[in-house]
Amino acid sequence: MQKRTLGEQGLTTSAIGYGAMRIALLDESQDRASIAAIRRAYDDGVTHFDTAELYGWGRGERLLGTALASVRDQVTIATKFGFTPSFTPNSRPDHVREVIDNSLRHLGVDHIDVLYQHIDDPTVPVEEVVGVMKEYVDAGKVRFLGLSNTTPDNLRKAHAVHPISVLQAEYSIFSRQSEAVLPLLEELGIGLVAYAPLARGFLGGAVTPRDALDAGDFRRRSPWWAPGNFEANLEIVDELTALAESKGATLSQLSLAWLVARRPYIVPIPGSGNAERVTQNNGAARLELTADDLAHIDRIAPTGAHAN
Ligand SMILES: NC(=O)c1ccc[n+]([C@@H]2O[C@H](COP(=O)([O-])OP(=O)(O)OC[C@H]3O[C@@H](n4cnc5c(N)ncnc54)[C@H](OP(=O)(O)O)[C@@H]3O)[C@@H](O)[C@H]2O)c1
Repeated sequence: MQKRTLGEQGLTTSAIGYGAMRIALLDESQDRASIAAIRRAYDDGVTHFDTAELYGWGRGERLLGTALASVRDQVTIATKFGFTPSFTPNSRPDHVREVIDNSLRHLGVDHIDVLYQHIDDPTVPVEEVVGVMKEYVDAGKVRFLGLSNTTPDNLRKAHAVHPISVLQAEYSIFSRQSEAVLPLLEELGIGLVAYAPLARGFLGGAVTPRDALDAGDFRRRSPWWAPGNFEANLEIVDELTALAESKGATLSQLSLAWLVARRPYIVPIPGSGNAERVTQNNGAARLELTADDLAHIDRIAPTGAHAN
């Protein structure tokens, strides 16, 4: 698989990565299938794997670390700190140090390749947070720094304390807000890891209607699934699927290839616990979209999903 460079500090990854959030939340009976999915991604040429403390509070990191142990030196592993179990932010320095030490232990590694602050903490200046992250770079325990779910202002302040190699933000054909930050990323020389690149499954093809989702599923609250929007979004999916099929590809491949074609410094991290779907997704790295294809996609979904 072709490689991409994120930031200006030497972080190189495969053009498509793997997001390990979903597998961390599955029942433990699924672990064998999840490990097979991770290993399939590696066999397909994926070298960048993404997790977080939040994804199972250690369980997700242990699963990923186990799956990648024998190929540790051939891959880059990213993890994140900064959430509490009640989904409030906590980036107080002592807490951050504790979480990073835990992540190293859970992953079973002596260094983390990419360390992210998962979300801004309004009670701790980002300069102070990055100061703590930098301690770990100086100690050789972290290689590259990133921020996620942050503002352009914070990105600029953080970058002044220590170079930030990558921003992780939601970006897909359905979710286009991240496009506003691209000029800043280009100015500062920062890469973009695109999370939820398949619009949380909407761009996978077989999307589940709201009433069929589990009561606790966060997608029930998403405007993409709201009555009216859901049907209009299915029409977008149908048109994108027809375009994908005309190119001998699947909807997920078209959606990921679209991200790869947007900028040379974007790496999508689709998540799947199924090895066959992982391979399907990774096939996007071989799908060339022409200028006509890109214009066609823009006509189908000029501003993303219906969400009002
Ligand atoms: N920084 C942040 O705040 C943040 C937030 C959200 C996510 N993330 C990162 O981004 C990664 C991906 O995000 P995500 O998992 O929310 O969304 P996603 O990758 O857009 O979509 C995942 C969903 O799509 C399904 N899927 C995947 N490939 C498919 C295919 N080829 N055909 C049909 N369905 C397919 C998966 O189901 P199956 O497993 O059944 O295939 C899963 O339900 C996460 O793992 C995480 O690393 C970061």
